Amino acid sequence: MKPDNVVLSDDCRSVVIIDQTRLPNHTEYLTLTEPEHFYDAIKELKVRGAPAIGICAGMGLYVIANSFGETDEEKFLSKLHNVSVYINSSRPTAVNLKHALDRVEGAAHSLRGSGVGAMLDRMHSECTAIQDEDVTMCRAIAEYGLTLVKDGDCILTHCNAGPLATSCYGTGLGTLLLGKERGYTFHAYTDETRPLLQGARLTAYELDKAGIDVTLICDNMASIVMKQGRINACFVGCDRVAANGDTANKIGTSGVAVLAKHYGVPFYVFCPSSTIDMDCGTGADIVIEERDPDEIKTKFYTEPMAPAGVKCYNPAFDVTDAELITAIITEKGICRYPYTESLAELFG
Ligand code: MRU
Repeated sequence: MKPDNVVLSDDCRSVVIIDQTRLPNHTEYLTLTEPEHFYDAIKELKVRGAPAIGICAGMGLYVIANSFGETDEEKFLSKLHNVSVYINSSRPTAVNLKHALDRVEGAAHSLRGSGVGAMLDRMHSECTAIQDEDVTMCRAIAEYGLTLVKDGDCILTHCNAGPLATSCYGTGLGTLLLGKERGYTFHAYTDETRPLLQGARLTAYELDKAGIDVTLICDNMASIVMKQGRINACFVGCDRVAANGDTANKIGTSGVAVLAKHYGVPFYVFCPSSTIDMDCGTGADIVIEERDPDEIKTKFYTEPMAPAGVKCYNPAFDVTDAELITAIITEKGICRYPYTESLAELFG
């Protein structure tokens, strides 16, 4: 299966993305060539989801370097570093962004002394490898996910951790999508995910398109569906996992996890191992992005839904405490509490 959400053009001069802000009503493609294009597309969530951001940024760094027209290696590497730092500053929370940029920049450094042409070739292989690996990892994550559920289960989802947010299958949605291919009948309650509605706009769209029975709820309805016994498990993706298992994901995730603990519903976090940041000790070390208050007050409304001058606090992510997470599912295996030990074991 070939990913279509982030595509490196054949001439390697641009990256073409699906503009996720236009879904579900419009499928529009954007062609990115300049550093500002990549910065803005990531900042404005035209491309979003931790792995997809990394894939896009890595390809972007290569495409931009390809246009430098620079033959001096040291000047090339210095320009490359400046662009990498700039793109990395677009969003702070997802570790995959820095991880991918460092890999592609590192690929150029690994061929120091071989000429800029060889460096560019190496960068090309590295950025396409990041996407190819993501396809394989998502598939492996989905296989592990299928060992945790049974046919007929109903899953509560938060935000979007599907193919749009990754490459193929997704992380949090991969189990449902692969299960569907294998003949399982799953049901999903998908919360809207205020304020940017990734659940309503993207997850409901992806599940519906795949023919999976999906019911949309508002974020504040998660409690009632759990209390009524409708939910067998909660599935979420994540943007950064600290070494102790504390996990940053879309704002509201922590609330879902607290409810799941209260009602005895398993709460599963799905991610590629590249989302685990062993250099980050606990969730307190994770930088939480704060976004424009207008996303709460005016976005999606025909007129403002709050007094113009009212203060707003708009953190884009929260941290779910490790104790609330039943398991973290990666392509390398399933980790359980205490995560300080199980994650360390995962990395050998
Ligand atoms: O702000 P977003 O939409 O980029 O937030 C995305 C999430 O929180 C996802 O759950 C996470 O990146 C995992 S995507 C596989």
